[in-house]
Amino acid sequence: MAGILEGKVAFVTGGASGIGQATAVVMAREGARVAVADRAEADAAATVALINAAGGQAIAIGGDVTREADVAAMVARTVSAFGRIDCAFNNAGIAPRAVGPAGQRLHELGQEAFDRMLAVNLTGVFLCLKHEVAQMLAQGGGGAIVNTASVAGLIGLATSGHYVAAKHGVVGLTKSAAIEYAEDGIRVNCVNPGYITTPMTKETVEERGEKILAKVPMRRMGIPGEIAEAVAWMCSDKASFMTGASHVIDGGYYAA
Ligand code: NAI
Repeated sequence: MAGILEGKVAFVTGGASGIGQATAVVMAREGARVAVADRAEADAAATVALINAAGGQAIAIGGDVTREADVAAMVARTVSAFGRIDCAFNNAGIAPRAVGPAGQRLHELGQEAFDRMLAVNLTGVFLCLKHEVAQMLAQGGGGAIVNTASVAGLIGLATSGHYVAAKHGVVGLTKSAAIEYAEDGIRVNCVNPGYITTPMTKETVEERGEKILAKVPMRRMGIPGEIAEAVAWMCSDKASFMTGASHVIDGGYYAA
């Protein structure tokens, strides 16, 4: 049976780990040829090995989403390998711990930490959108883009102001892009995961997993595959009337 992404080319950032890796694998299973982009190129190659072992087609590309030249090169490399880009998943991101000690309130947060968070989690999404959309417009035929926001793109979280600001920015950017390119046939949506078991959340869960789960009606963490299945669907023609949307997947956290 043909997959829902049969014949399409997908570009996935943060594809070396967690949600991005699971999504690259699911997209390949659904028939897409996948460019797995990440600053951790060796780990991206491991994702490619998983895809190849399952009979899919993928390439690994190294690059940093905060640098426009890298983003332009990653998009160009995808096009030179596969001829076009039909779907993109702008998912590379970092947690508050990557830019400073956990638990800092706003008045304790250094500007460098704030700027770095915005650079990766918001500017990175902008740069990817910019170059993907330019490619989709040039090749014609539309496209589908999913950005990774978070439930933190819809609510506030104490001691994560920089992360929350960046993710709210992703939701806003998604809506504006959706409106700008609707008539070009390019759909732009975001996915808003709750707490998902990945390397990013490992330490947080070790420290305060019980407190987190007490706020999740399903009383468990999600797994990357539960995001991946939705993203693959949002990128497929089955989601043909969906654009500008925030798709929450969180075991009921946001509803509670
Ligand atoms: P992860 O840490 O497993 O994967 C993130 C990937 O992004 C890594 O492979 C990393 O090398 C890559 N990356 C980071 N900075 C980069 C840069 N500047 N350029 C290129 N690649 C870069 O994390 P996870 O959990 O899979 O997160 C993926 C996305 O999901 C992030 O945007 C995160 O904010 C978001 N998210 C995660 C949640 C969770 O509970 N795990 C919940 C809500 C959102």
